[in-house]
Amino acid sequence: MQCLAVLLSLLVVALCSAGHDTGQLSNSSRSFAEYTDQSLLWAPYRSNCYFGIRPRNVDQSPFMMGVMWFDNSDASGLSRMRHFVDQGDRLTKYGWEVYDPRVGGKEVIIDEENNLNLTLYFTKSHSGENWAVRVHGQPIDFTRGTVASIVLYFNQNGEDGESKLVKLPELGDGSTKFHGVSKELGEYQITVEDNKGSYFSDPNLSTMEIVPGCDSSKPTHISLTIPDSNVWMAKDVFLSILSDSVKKIVEEKGAEAVNPSLFPSTFTVRNLYGFPPGNFHYLQKSFDNSDPEGFEFDIVYNKLNAQEKILSAQKVTALIVETLKHVESKFDRLFEIEPKNGKHHEFALETLSNLLGGIGYFHGTQLVDRTTIFDDEQFEEIKLLNSREEGPLSLFTSVPSRAAFPRGFYWDEGFHLLQIMEYDFDLAFVIISSWFELIEDDSGWIAREIILGDEARNKVPEEFRIQNPNIANPPTLLLAFSEMLERAIKSQEDSAMAFEKDDVMMQDETNQLEFNSNLLVEYARKIYPKLLKHYNWFKDSQRGLFEEYEEMLNEEGILEKAHEDEVYVWRGRTISHCLPSGMDDYPRPQPPDVAELNVDALAWVGVMTRSMKRIAHVLGLEEDEKHYQNWENNVIENLDLLHWNEAQGCYCDLTIDSFEDARTFVCHEGYISLLPFALKLIPRDSAHLDRIVSLMADPERIFSDYGLLSLSRKDEYFGTSENYWRGPVWMNINYLCLDALKYYYPEVLSAKEGTFSPEKQVAQKLFKDLKSNLINNVFKNWEEKGYCYESYDQHTGEGKGVEHFTGWTALVVNLMGRK
Ligand SMILES: *[C@@H]1O[C@H](CO)[C@@H](O)[C@H](O)[C@H]1NC(C)=O
Ligand SMILES: *[C@@H]1O[C@H](CO)[C@@H](O)[C@H](O)[C@H]1NC(C)=O
Ligand SMILES: *[C@@H]1O[C@H](CO)[C@@H](O)[C@H](O)[C@H]1NC(C)=O
Repeated sequence: MQCLAVLLSLLVVALCSAGHDTGQLSNSSRSFAEYTDQSLLWAPYRSNCYFGIRPRNVDQSPFMMGVMWFDNSDASGLSRMRHFVDQGDRLTKYGWEVYDPRVGGKEVIIDEENNLNLTLYFTKSHSGENWAVRVHGQPIDFTRGTVASIVLYFNQNGEDGESKLVKLPELGDGSTKFHGVSKELGEYQITVEDNKGSYFSDPNLSTMEIVPGCDSSKPTHISLTIPDSNVWMAKDVFLSILSDSVKKIVEEKGAEAVNPSLFPSTFTVRNLYGFPPGNFHYLQKSFDNSDPEGFEFDIVYNKLNAQEKILSAQKVTALIVETLKHVESKFDRLFEIEPKNGKHHEFALETLSNLLGGIGYFHGTQLVDRTTIFDDEQFEEIKLLNSREEGPLSLFTSVPSRAAFPRGFYWDEGFHLLQIMEYDFDLAFVIISSWFELIEDDSGWIAREIILGDEARNKVPEEFRIQNPNIANPPTLLLAFSEMLERAIKSQEDSAMAFEKDDVMMQDETNQLEFNSNLLVEYARKIYPKLLKHYNWFKDSQRGLFEEYEEMLNEEGILEKAHEDEVYVWRGRTISHCLPSGMDDYPRPQPPDVAELNVDALAWVGVMTRSMKRIAHVLGLEEDEKHYQNWENNVIENLDLLHWNEAQGCYCDLTIDSFEDARTFVCHEGYISLLPFALKLIPRDSAHLDRIVSLMADPERIFSDYGLLSLSRKDEYFGTSENYWRGPVWMNINYLCLDALKYYYPEVLSAKEGTFSPEKQVAQKLFKDLKSNLINNVFKNWEEKGYCYESYDQHTGEGKGVEHFTGWTALVVNLMGRK
């Protein structure tokens, strides 16, 4: 083992230097990189906003924009100004009906309180360098007499003296134009142009101007300077300027004297303090929202020297039509959901689009506490008080929920990728490699929540902002990575065997890595060194105390068979919670003990090892592959030898009973006991399979009409306390269990019922019922309430927790239609 470590570290050095030399990249990877950079440069990557754009990989001088809105026909409208996605806004609906970050899509927002039905289209030129947003709004009820005040803001970041954004003189054609310069993006022009609708004006009044600058009958523009780090506070700044202005008007005119028809003018922003113009701009448009036809305008970004410019509303329309068609037909090529005009199809396309719509680009510093020591002997909550800002770092990732969790989550992302890879294999790779970039060179650690910069930080409760390098989380990224490698290896073996390949997928420029082995090898080689560090960090930091069990195992006569290096425990659990495990309040050994061993921690190491084995295979590192294979076998043997409890018939945590001085199984039937199965770590011929399947199929324990329950109905903790992972149905583990059923019982998919042994019939029925229960329940909730949820109630199937949770719940799309 010592030798191998040396060998591996030599390899790391060799591979590192190879990986950085882009001059050696083949033609195909150059076009892969080019296509990636172009098609993924622009998108609404500020997914924490209802609509906000920033470019990817442009860190010094990105162009930033956002859309906000409120009803400015009365004073209370201010409190309903929308900007960041917020469950408290109680929108009837919001989200992408059709979306792909590479080309664009359509987002719909139904805001009852503001009486606004808003559709935002995002599209790009074919090269990806120019883009357009079409904002279409209409009243939900045109008789309510509201005003739809849309506030756009733009900023050219980069406090370097060179980067700037200035409004150009009006041309009298009703459009507003800006000229921008960014050190990284070059020169560009922004045009905002109305297509239809009218600004609010009362024909009975001779003027709508209440004071100079405040006139709802025309668009209002103000420009000022806001530090780059505060651009995300665009709403706060707007509200503060506006409320000063309103105060002033009331002081001057007296509140009673203001004609209600002039409210929209009163609630129009003006440059009250005579700020000199800067790179930050507000553009406010107050549309009369009593016209059932509504209003519409386009925001267009054109690079100055671009080949394909977007110069007319017709062009925007044509691009939008093309974009929507592109995404829909790609979706139908990859997923089979009939009928195409049915509700299920709409639900699936929308859910996938919302997962993709959560993809964001984050850049900024992270708070890390490296000095607080975790004392393994105590289980009180440890406060991380010694944080320092580190970075800046960047991350390109999807998010669990745009409303509640708009940032990268290590535990969730692997599940997101299992879904994303079915739609766009290369995009999944680009995301995973962005995560792997975060692996620290020295330690091999990645934080479990990636909270970069103030914009991301402001959504996080203070106690969760600070990360600590002793804390791990389930390495789901390696699960996804392992699946991707397996698929790529298989595709390549298949295509090597087939002389003629008429597979449409081969043509697709978003599946280059899957079908081009050279490219995959180059990529794997780049990732391998960091991954190895991460693998070692995980094993070292979460290693359990085997010594404590040696005597007992000896007495039991199994010491010789056990593998002392493969036992693990999650660092940082408290008496009631084990946040690192990802299943916070799932019951664990009580009282906690330093010697405790967690079955799920071991199972996740198995996944990591398998993933390392596959990457070694792709790289042709036969010796390494053998070592990983050995370690994987050791994990598998330890699962059975140490964690399987024959009496209970399930996998359990272990602890030491201090009175009896004996190895004690702590068994709580539920997701944690299923993990070795769910992660395909049990040998295919294992006698345990049938018992696990019968546990899953048992309606008295964890089977339900809505999916598998996180904890058995018979468990003493079922449904107790905060009831987070103590009963509710979660999509992620259900998805793994279904996938594992396919793996262990390949015949359950193909043959007719009743042709196998009774055990296999149980598996077959379980697969069928579980799959349809999950789909039906998530769909039913969506149909009734318009959203996907974080988890689903164990008694009623009703959506629980965070709303608009199209992170791993979006895996329902694979269940419904993966080909
Ligand atoms: C690589 O790209 C260059 C320039 O585009 C081209 O001339 C050459 O033929 C390509 N080589 C291969 C092997 O495709
Ligand atoms: C919103 O507008 C679209 C058309 O733009 C329409 O099809 C839809 O029914 C409207 N929804 C509501 C709730 O008004
Ligand atoms: C204008 O005045 C007429 C007559 O007084 C009234 O019926 C109408 O509602 C007024 N229009 C508006 C927009 O207030």
